Amino acid sequence: MTATQNRAPTPSFVQRMSRVKPYFGRPYGLWVVVVIATIVGGTTEPLIPYLMKLLVNRGFGQHSFPLWVVPCTVIGLFALRGVTGFMAQMALTRIANSGIFKLRTEMFQKLQNAQMQLFSQQSASTLANTVVYEVQTGSNQLVYALLSLSKDGLSVVSLLVSLLLQNWKLTLIVLFLFPAVALVMKTLSARLYRITKASQTATDELAYVVEENVLAHRTIRLHGAQTSQSARFRGFSDGLRRLAMKSSAASAAMTPLTQMLGAVAVSAVVTIALWQSQDGAGNVGDFLQFVMSMLMLLAPVKHLADVANPITRGLAAVERGLQLIDEIHTEPSGSHAVERARGELQFDAITLRYADDAVPALDQINLHIAPGEIVAFVGPSGAGKTSLMNLLPRFILPTEGHILLDGVRTEDWDIQSLRNQFAMVSQDVVMLNDSVAANVALGRELDRERVAQCLEAANLSQHIASLPQGMDTLVGHNATQFSGGQRQRLAIARALYKDAPILILDEATSALDNESERLVQEALQRLMTGRTTLIVAHRISTIEHADRIVVMSGGQIVEQGPHAELVRQQGLYSRLHRLGFGEHASGLAPQVAV
Ligand SMILES: Nc1ncnc2c1ncn2[C@@H]1O[C@H](COP(=O)(O)OP(=O)(O)O)[C@@H](O)[C@H]1O
Ligand SMILES: [Mg+2]
Repeated sequence: MTATQNRAPTPSFVQRMSRVKPYFGRPYGLWVVVVIATIVGGTTEPLIPYLMKLLVNRGFGQHSFPLWVVPCTVIGLFALRGVTGFMAQMALTRIANSGIFKLRTEMFQKLQNAQMQLFSQQSASTLANTVVYEVQTGSNQLVYALLSLSKDGLSVVSLLVSLLLQNWKLTLIVLFLFPAVALVMKTLSARLYRITKASQTATDELAYVVEENVLAHRTIRLHGAQTSQSARFRGFSDGLRRLAMKSSAASAAMTPLTQMLGAVAVSAVVTIALWQSQDGAGNVGDFLQFVMSMLMLLAPVKHLADVANPITRGLAAVERGLQLIDEIHTEPSGSHAVERARGELQFDAITLRYADDAVPALDQINLHIAPGEIVAFVGPSGAGKTSLMNLLPRFILPTEGHILLDGVRTEDWDIQSLRNQFAMVSQDVVMLNDSVAANVALGRELDRERVAQCLEAANLSQHIASLPQGMDTLVGHNATQFSGGQRQRLAIARALYKDAPILILDEATSALDNESERLVQEALQRLMTGRTTLIVAHRISTIEHADRIVVMSGGQIVEQGPHAELVRQQGLYSRLHRLGFGEHASGLAPQVAV
């Protein structure tokens, strides 16, 4: 599912940060606030030990300054640090959240226009996880880690400068700390990056199990599959637990290791300083300032060591979103666009393979359909009827061959203009969680009058009138409060509303009972007039009215012609016809169920 992530070589830190920059690099004004506030905050750091030195050396005994200066200076210093800290934090929060907003908007845009393979490669939960969750936590971790990096980095630099000015020889000992800390950080953060990537995959798998179990909750209970599903969930959950432990171990090891290095440096400096003081060199104030500066150095150094963790995790999370934006291609589109096509279709040696090594689902299909012609497609299940229909609006792309609409290859059509030419009622009806009216008018301007007409024509107005808010009633998640037949009639109303020149009905009446089927049949008849219509059907009543019947089997067209002629031919069609086209499907062998 996430194969591309695992295969990609690890890019350098700078390369990775520069990919994130377009989202978090602006507005510059906020970054200026962050930088100034951080510089002011960071440089006040060495002032505290300096104040202590002044107090010790000159504050006791003979006062050389008035007493009120002391509390005023201390309070003033901390007020300055507080204000700058607050400003930096607020500015960064703004930067982080507008970055998240930009990223999310772009990711959702990408989902809308991505090549459709994306949806067979990544599950709904994986995509939701990336867009909703990963980006949020990742960006926040990243931006706050950057705050810490700059703030603590500056503290370290200013404290070091002050230490060098005080006693450069002793400071050199402190500097031995840095390469050692860097080495520890580098090793551990490389490990963390790998663990984080693995955790993302494991989280996706876990979310996927939940998604699947929610979707199939009835089936799972009916078959008593809870135990095996729980075991499956526990497997993934346990994997995630182990990864979390490894990740914790890597980041927890960082703190004591850096602290040990710090302790070594502090004890060396103190020992040397005390040893020097035996010769009477230096005074108490200077020593206090030096040791205090050094001790104050420890906290930011430790923070800097810890910062690798959120930066690594945050970057990995944000990168997942960037991957969606950069690596998923948008659907290719041509430029041919017309308001309304005539509806002439031509299949030119179409072969379709779902996988490179799979048996072709469609094998060298050649077919011409004239404008306004009604063509019915029949054949056993798995014959390739649905695949053939899905090729038309380019939901799937042919492996070989071309499809022409009005003499223009579908790949040369502007993708949206092409799709505007088709209305489709398929086997699986999908409704959005919105009002009945919004579902019928989907993607078009809502004209209540026309919605009512379409509902009427689809023989649904009676049912809609009985709903509490009529056509403004919310249909709920995929309209589950509607029956199968009602959902299908809703889809027919939607197709009527779209009023496209080509109509595709893929078992559109399969969920209807005989009574509503008769009523919908009239509506469909009206809908079909003047339109090119492709019907995949198993009802003799639908098929008989077709101008031509195309019989498919094993991805090929085996017979075609008008009903009476095909019955006379005594081939597959007449056999399917004798068996009633699956109208009493329970009595049929599966290979002839249409
Ligand atoms: N998304 C898919 N991925 C892989 N194989 C598929 C997919 N959809 C359909 N197929 C395969 O293509 C063949 C034709 O399927 P389909 O077009 O749905 O047949 P029909 O609609 O005639 O029942 C079947 O063998 C089916 O297994
Ligand atoms: Mg089908």
